[in-house]
Amino acid sequence: MNRLECIKSMVSKCKIAADIGTDHGYVAEMLLTENICEKIIATDLNKGPLNSAIEHLKNKSLFNKCDFRLGSGLEVLKDNEVDAIIIAGMGGDLISDILEMRKKIALNASQLILQPMTHVDKLRKYLLQNGFSIIDENIVKEFHHYYFIIKAVPNNLNNLNNLNNLNENNLQEENEIYYEISKHLLRKNDNIFIDYINKQIHINNKIIKSLKNTNNLEYKEKITALTNKNKQLEELIKFEIKRNN
Ligand SMILES: C[S@@+](CC[C@H](N)C(=O)[O-])C[C@H]1O[C@@H](n2cnc3c(N)ncnc32)[C@H](O)[C@@H]1O
Repeated sequence: MNRLECIKSMVSKCKIAADIGTDHGYVAEMLLTENICEKIIATDLNKGPLNSAIEHLKNKSLFNKCDFRLGSGLEVLKDNEVDAIIIAGMGGDLISDILEMRKKIALNASQLILQPMTHVDKLRKYLLQNGFSIIDENIVKEFHHYYFIIKAVPNNLNNLNNLNNLNENNLQEENEIYYEISKHLLRKNDNIFIDYINKQIHINNKIIKSLKNTNNLEYKEKITALTNKNKQLEELIKFEIKRNN
């Protein structure tokens, strides 16, 4: 499965979804073609990308099922207008800022599908500390790049469906490592994810080696931190592999 297919596969059937930062409009197209959503509000901060989405969805005869809006993040949405929010292909910091700026709208949606390009740990932390639960996560690899796709729901007491799916640690992870290393992916024992963790260990080892080679005492703390991080990562993998066997 590629990144866009994975994003699509994680959206539950809904009436109106917002595709924030739609760019080419491919996500909107997939969701409409497969009848996952009845209508899409496709938005972008920039005119160029929004125009290419308009062109693309016109060509696919899906124009009538779309509402196109120019502007930043959730600012272009009205309260309770959408039941799903998709934000893909932006930095994790930016995605957190977008949610924070119009938090009420985000908390009123019944599902958020988020695909950060960077800072996935910061986004997970933001979600868990700001009234959302992460109920699923997937990883895909395309051209040597790993993409994380997060499905989050608000911890809204009125939303009983979501209560059944609450992450047991929805306010804060007991160990900071779980912001970096998704519990959902660990439990799935996903091969791509194990491969990702092994790559992180390898990168950390290379950094440790080059820092040691400098013989500079200033790097002592950094070396200890990276060595401890690798120990934690190795233990997590071992534990999960054992649990799954
Ligand atoms: C890399 S593209 C991702 C396109 C598509 N969502 C995907 O995942 O393939 C990022 C898009 O987000 C738009 N964008 C950046 N900041 C934004 C913001 N604050 N609000 C809405 N769109 C934004 C950019 O103009 C660009 O079209």
